[in-house]
Amino acid sequence: MTSAHQRLGEPIADLRDGRGGPRTGPARGPDRAGPGSRPVVLTMSDYLALGEHQEITAAAIGGLRGARGVPSPRAARLGTRRLADALAAHLGAASVGLCASGWAANTAVMRAVVDPGAPVYLDVLAHVSLWEGARAAGGATACFRHNDLDDLRQRIAAGGPGVIAVDALYGDDGSVCPLPGLADVAEETGCTLVVDETHCLGTHGDRGEGLVAALALEDRVHLRTAGLAKAFPIRAGLIAAGRPGFTDRLRYAARPAGYGSPLPPNDLAGLAAALPIVRDEGWRRERLRAVSVRVRRGLLALGYGVGAGDSQIISLATGSEADARLLRDDLAARGVLTAALFPTAPRPAAPGGRLRLSMHAGLTDGDVEHVLDGFAGLCDRLHMPA
Ligand SMILES: Cc1ncc(COP(=O)(O)O)c(C=O)c1O
Repeated sequence: MTSAHQRLGEPIADLRDGRGGPRTGPARGPDRAGPGSRPVVLTMSDYLALGEHQEITAAAIGGLRGARGVPSPRAARLGTRRLADALAAHLGAASVGLCASGWAANTAVMRAVVDPGAPVYLDVLAHVSLWEGARAAGGATACFRHNDLDDLRQRIAAGGPGVIAVDALYGDDGSVCPLPGLADVAEETGCTLVVDETHCLGTHGDRGEGLVAALALEDRVHLRTAGLAKAFPIRAGLIAAGRPGFTDRLRYAARPAGYGSPLPPNDLAGLAAALPIVRDEGWRRERLRAVSVRVRRGLLALGYGVGAGDSQIISLATGSEADARLLRDDLAARGVLTAALFPTAPRPAAPGGRLRLSMHAGLTDGDVEHVLDGFAGLCDRLHMPA
């Protein structure tokens, strides 16, 4: 049981009104309309609020209109290469390969670096697709405690060198990976380090280059992956090699791109248009940080155990899946849409559920108040001290 759950467990039991089970739909009753008229949506990962950006949309439409049928393999290769090179420069990487999604990137990279039977050390909260890729490659998966480098060291001492796979910023709880220490462990133990930057590419670093580059770890992290459907608003994935020597591995890892369809011209054009916007419009990152800090501080002041930090992912451990649903539905009734998360195989099951709020740069000051009002209203019903 987490400390947040210890704080919330009893009040949630009160909120159930003796029904003792999950509630399937939004609560009915006088507070249904919520404190504002427009729901605040915190379920998307459009962190920089680029999802409806006119220039990006126009570029994607232009890419479709200009395509005149299926592009020739040569044209598709050239377009993909140009974009991959621009992304490599953005990331400070030796080379970048593109594929259809972050999921494809993670499964492909694990297939490329994990030898059958070899140890793979995964943080317990590492993305499910890293776990899937490690299993598909036939690796001997070993899980280490979340962000616990001593536990990782002990497991490597027992199992020998292999692959370490982590997320730079964890989508479940918004925690940040201790990357410099992790790079030390990888070097000391002769392990290959794979870091998923899906939730920090675009949002972290002065120009959105992600945490690895912001911490100057480009050549100490062997391979980076990212899904681009978060801060970058287009469905695609990338794999970046930190050192030239890993480019060959990357070529092998790029099988989903080589043996699958190339990215379509509209996605290539949309991504090419998004990259300078992500790099140059630093105010989006500043706004994202500001609203994230305000909501987090407000929730802490209300007594919710959301933890410290300035990450755009704010998460509340609820104890059980039923309680996560219950909180989500009661907040939805107050016009605040959040996500309820549950343990997912093949990761080893951590008990309990979570409520996740994904902040974005498009939130107004009124939205922030609306969110905090929603939680404050719930606080009254939970009998939490205000
Ligand atoms: C950390 C992480 N990695 C990878 C993925 C998969 O990315 P995609 O949705 O592009 O397949 C996700 C998806 O949400 C994610 O959160």
